[in-house]
Amino acid sequence: MDSKIKDLNEKLAQAYLGGGQNRIDKQHEKKKLTARERVNYLLDEGSFEEIGALVTHRTKDFGMEKQQFYGDGVVTGYGTINGRLVYVFAQDFTVFGGSLSETHAEKICKVMDLAVKVGAPIIGLNDSGGARIQEGVRSLGGYADIFYKNVQASGVIPQISAIMGPCAGGAVYSPAMTDFTLMVEDTSYMFVTGPNVVKTVTNETVTSEELGGASTHSTKSGVTHKTSANDIACLEDIKKLLSYLPQNNTTSPPLLPFELKEELRDALSHIIPDNANKPYDMHLVISGIIDADSFYEIHKDYAENIIVGFARLGGRSIGIVANQPQFLAGVLDVNSSKKAARFVRFCDAFNIPLLVLEDVPGFLPGTDQEWNGIIVHGAKLLYAFSEATVPRVTVITRKAYGGAYDVMNSKHIGADMNFAWPSAEIAVMGAKGAAEIIFKNEIKSADNPEQKWKEKEAEYAELFANPYSASERGFIDEVILPKDTRRKLIKAFSMLENKEVDRPKRKHGNIPL
Ligand code: COA
Repeated sequence: MDSKIKDLNEKLAQAYLGGGQNRIDKQHEKKKLTARERVNYLLDEGSFEEIGALVTHRTKDFGMEKQQFYGDGVVTGYGTINGRLVYVFAQDFTVFGGSLSETHAEKICKVMDLAVKVGAPIIGLNDSGGARIQEGVRSLGGYADIFYKNVQASGVIPQISAIMGPCAGGAVYSPAMTDFTLMVEDTSYMFVTGPNVVKTVTNETVTSEELGGASTHSTKSGVTHKTSANDIACLEDIKKLLSYLPQNNTTSPPLLPFELKEELRDALSHIIPDNANKPYDMHLVISGIIDADSFYEIHKDYAENIIVGFARLGGRSIGIVANQPQFLAGVLDVNSSKKAARFVRFCDAFNIPLLVLEDVPGFLPGTDQEWNGIIVHGAKLLYAFSEATVPRVTVITRKAYGGAYDVMNSKHIGADMNFAWPSAEIAVMGAKGAAEIIFKNEIKSADNPEQKWKEKEAEYAELFANPYSASERGFIDEVILPKDTRRKLIKAFSMLENKEVDRPKRKHGNIPL
């Protein structure tokens, strides 16, 4: 028996070395952790249980039978993060560049299947040269098996991807179909075709970093939801993200202990400028309302005219969607609509209540927006809110103009509680523009048109630049003092805790894509 135990220990020791010490050193030189180091850092100490450490590939072409590494380039298994079960796979760049073979894909699929059966999140740490070139179509089949499982798991368990090295070609589509994609700055990149192919096909000269680095995907494409300075920061970000999420779509996110006290927040009374055209930072409103330091922003540097992210309110995990008057006056446009719609749908799928903070002057006008389909993209957000059945609460801090008023979680599309601050202006448009249109003739024929315009603007503002016309009709449930907002919201979400909505049976809706 002793010799058999020794044999096993030797095999495992070999598996733990991946592609060998030289390649591990190279990984470290690139300021990257190895797959095992990442898994060990991510999971609670001593909680990792590996599955398939002794798997090897089955390829015999190109002399591959002589190159065997236990684990075949991916470390898979399960463990806990803050005591909660998760499944994990981490591609090991030291073995064939982390490239995906048939067996590598089978290992990933095995943990994905377990995650769905048990109902626990799956986390993929990607660091791979793509399809194992020596395996040809078998490797492509492996990718497709993973994609298919990503889709089956979507909306059932949270799926989180971290890109911690290369992720190119077909490999990008698994992260793209998961709920969140995080990227490590400077050491990771994602693209469908690399710089060389780009040069050949379009004659563009571009570096990997410019084409698909973390900063590109966090600012230009929106492919990544969060970037982190290094591997450790990225793994910490994953742990934090998970703390807001439930294990699966049949459970609720963890509720932290909380005792309701006075909860007055005077600072909220001094954020909105007297001049309605002046910007302010909606982050101040968010931090004024939520539990201390609990905001976890998603897509921070993309479509900054809308803010989305998770927070805690009275210990409860919530999703926040907030217009940001500091960027483009907080208008809705193509990118902000897509960003918010995806976030709303995630929260709804995973029982995370939604808080909307609204200050929106409307949709962004212009040929660029129209030709890029603002109609269909704006409709995504309208659709996403309308179909959401989680508790939904809105606070209008200032402008709620035009169609954007309807879209931003209005009472009419199913919001449960709609509050407004006294500074709210709920109207078809701003008073100046409205007066110009409806009193056009009167203004034109007046002795002093400028003066007349001002009078009519004031008349319109008197009627609509306030929350009262909407609250008289019940479109607003209550006009509240800013300092009371936190307390009102804690109570509203607590009141809505057992909300249930029945929908007619259907295969699925047809969200405008
Ligand atoms: N299939 C098989 N082996 C691969 C591979 C792949 N797709 N990608 C990388 N490898 C191997 C390399 O042969 C090398 O093996 P070695 O250690 O025995 O020499 C090892 O992984 C590391 O790759 P290397 O090229 O030295 O690393 P790098 O950091 O300089 O470059 C990449 C990384 C990903 C840019 C580069 O390996 C690459 O371009 N790979 C191919 C990408 C691709 O076209 N994939 C297929 C389409 S999806």
